Parts: sequence; structure tokens; C-alpha cells
Amino acid sequence: MSRTVLLLNGPNLNLLGTREPEVYGTDTLDDIVAGIRAHATAADVEIEVYQSNIEGELIDRLHEARGNVDGVIFNPGAFTHYSVALRDAVSACELPVVETHLSNVHAREEFRHTSVLTAVCVGVVAGFGADSYRVAFDALMGHLDGQSSSG
Ligand code: DQA
Repeated sequence: MSRTVLLLNGPNLNLLGTREPEVYGTDTLDDIVAGIRAHATAADVEIEVYQSNIEGELIDRLHEARGNVDGVIFNPGAFTHYSVALRDAVSACELPVVETHLSNVHAREEFRHTSVLTAVCVGVVAGFGADSYRVAFDALMGHLDGQSSSG
């Protein structure tokens, strides 16, 4: 059975490619989406894509995903570090969510070392630039495979 994955991106990630390229690389969000779609197509997985700079819109999109996709690759941007509302939305959607960051947040400013989301995600990938999304996708597939084989 084919799967559907939501690729969800938070604030400022619409500026990828031009935003602090020394930190986030030169790939645009469209480049990243195209790469993930190609990778997913080979695995017979459909990708839904959503980006917003607005916390409430990300929460609404997680609610919409509930029961309608198999998992979520989520880069919450700066909301990672303080949005309890997004954490609650991740818990409420009852989906495997992989927290994903381009940069190695642990090697950056101290306020980026804390995530209020990680504890309600199945795992976290950080520090591989645009490749973080592909690593997150593969990890999510492994997680879903494990779930289906354990019944
Ligand atoms: C980020 C890391 C966050 O600390 C930052 O606020 C971002 C991007 C990343 O992908 O490395 O907007 O999530």
C-alpha cells in the first residue's frame, strides 16, 4: 500500500537559498521539495507540502494531517525552541513526526539547544543541510516499516 507523507516547514524557511546561506545552504525550499519528491516517488510515497510563517497555520495543518497521512517530516524553524502549542499539536495529531533541521542546532547559540518538540517526535535529524530531509524521510520509512511488521 502506498504511503503519504507531509513535508511541513515553519517560519523563514520560505527564504531558503538566500537566507544565511553559510548556515542553511543554497538550496531553495523548492529544490528541497523536488529532491524529496524524486526520492519518495522511487519508494511509491506521495508527498504533501506545506510551509507557513504562522504558528496557528502549522497547527491547523497538523490537525488536517491527523488520520490522513502516514507521517510528517517537520522543520518547525524557531518555533522548535518555544512553541508549546505546536508540541501539543504534534501530540494531538497521533502521527509519527520526525523533527528535522538543516543546521546542527546543538553547535549553535544556546537557545537553539532546547527543543520543546523532540520528546513528542519519533526522532530528530539535524545538521546535514538539505540532506537532513532525505535522512528524515528514510528514518520515517524505517519507523513505519517497523510499525507494520510488528502488527
Ligand atoms: C532550523 C534551526 C532553527 O534554530 C532556526 O530558527 C531555523 C531553522 C534549521 O533547520 O536548522 O529557522 O530549524
